[in-house]
Amino acid sequence: MSAKQLVLGAFEELTPSFISNGWPHERSDPAGFAGLPYWQELSRQLDAAGFDFLFFADALGYPMHEQVSPSGEVTFEIPDVVVREAVQFPVHDPLTIVSGLAATVERLGFVVTASTTAEHPFLLARRFASLDHLTAGRIGWNVVTSDMQTALVRLLGQTDVTPHDERYARADEFVDLTLKLWEGGWSDDAAVVDKATRVFTDPSKVHRITHEGRYFSLDGLFPVSPSLQRTPTLFQAGSSASGREFASRIAECVFIQERDPAQAARTVRDIRDRVERRGRDRDSVKIINSISVVVGATDEEAQAARRALTAAPSRDAMAALFLGWSGVNLLGLDPATPIDELSTEVGQTTLAMYQGQGATVGSVLDRLAETLGGTKITGTAEHAADEIETLARETDVDGFLIEHSYGGLATYREFIDGVMPLLRERGLLPAEPRGGTLRERLTGTPTPRLGPAHPGAGFRPGAGTAAYPGGAADPAAPPASAAAG
Ligand SMILES: Cc1cc2nc3c(=O)[nH]c(=O)nc-3n(C[C@H](O)[C@H](O)[C@H](O)COP(=O)(O)O)c2cc1C
Repeated sequence: MSAKQLVLGAFEELTPSFISNGWPHERSDPAGFAGLPYWQELSRQLDAAGFDFLFFADALGYPMHEQVSPSGEVTFEIPDVVVREAVQFPVHDPLTIVSGLAATVERLGFVVTASTTAEHPFLLARRFASLDHLTAGRIGWNVVTSDMQTALVRLLGQTDVTPHDERYARADEFVDLTLKLWEGGWSDDAAVVDKATRVFTDPSKVHRITHEGRYFSLDGLFPVSPSLQRTPTLFQAGSSASGREFASRIAECVFIQERDPAQAARTVRDIRDRVERRGRDRDSVKIINSISVVVGATDEEAQAARRALTAAPSRDAMAALFLGWSGVNLLGLDPATPIDELSTEVGQTTLAMYQGQGATVGSVLDRLAETLGGTKITGTAEHAADEIETLARETDVDGFLIEHSYGGLATYREFIDGVMPLLRERGLLPAEPRGGTLRERLTGTPTPRLGPAHPGAGFRPGAGTAAYPGGAADPAAPPASAAAG
């Protein structure tokens, strides 16, 4: 059996320093991170190399932790190191950059995180649908319930941190409502644009959406005209049990961040089993693992480069990054505390990666710069290609997200020049970059639209599962089982 061709993404955030906290490294050049030229150049290089997409993670706030005084007063603190050493700070709004980049390159897709805990479904649906037009169907939404939950209380005025599993209940309803708007809002032939009759859009083909749920209510029309994909390609990140269950229902692509191949294989199998239990094809969901690749002319040179990268951030900066992702302030705990005794209502996946191994708070802190993030691959281009090939075969992932290391092009230079040609020679990447909308490119669907087994297809006009009290049923629409995609 020939090996499957891999999906490749670049893992970035609109911030000068990201997963490695490596901006003090001599190869890093973060000065231009806030402007278009920095990202346009990166997009051009990624596109020309055959990357499938550029992914912008997003943070609702920044690492901060709450403290309860002996009198019960709750205060919060932003560690100085966050601001001083640029730990996901400054961080800018990633959606604002997408159309500027899409205008620069023709094939590359763009995936952007947006939080179901912070956003409103109608506003989010409007923005992503607008971007689907502006990118010609090359936009994806990474659906997360979010780390950095304290920000929701302190910056957005929510009264309390929503408990972990309830965040996923809200996410379920959130995504359903956006699917109703994207898939059910307009019939395909609603646009008329006839000057003689003065009909721009046929009102009987723009359907009133009603929704009365536990978290959201809505009654009205979706104002964005139909775009190529309608629903942006749906990604999900967050590997807690409720995160995987959520992903199995709605995700087309799932991001994971596993360090250990055996654990990665278990996670992949578990997600595919859950997808199958939902009545979807277990292989239709593309699972993408996050990896950090450092390449050198020799293995020794690469090891030295890895050591220099690991030495770039301070211990406190790495602790602050861990705080943001997991909600656990390691620096405020006795270093002898067993990690297994800790729990979190924030990012359970991050904490879980350090549990079950007999580690203490102190030993985790000592290793954070080496370990935080996904699988580390360090060696010659040949070595990196071998490891990627083995990982793909042994874990059954469908692709990889290359993690920000030095920042900017330096992160990808040796990977593009040295590793990708080898992967291509071995048949692990297509000879010519794939094209089309992001959905077609990543999932191989025959059309830009969601596939018929996805719950979103059930919200289409005429599919019979959604209520459209104000809109005429569309007799021309195919039943969900025969719908496109
Ligand atoms: C590859 C990858 C990308 C992620 N991107 C984000 C992100 O942009 N923003 C965010 O808040 N969390 C991100 N996460 C972290 C969590 O998925 C997310 O905070 C999640 O909602 C926490 O849920 P959990 O408890 O199921 O882990 C990412 C995780 C992975 C593996």
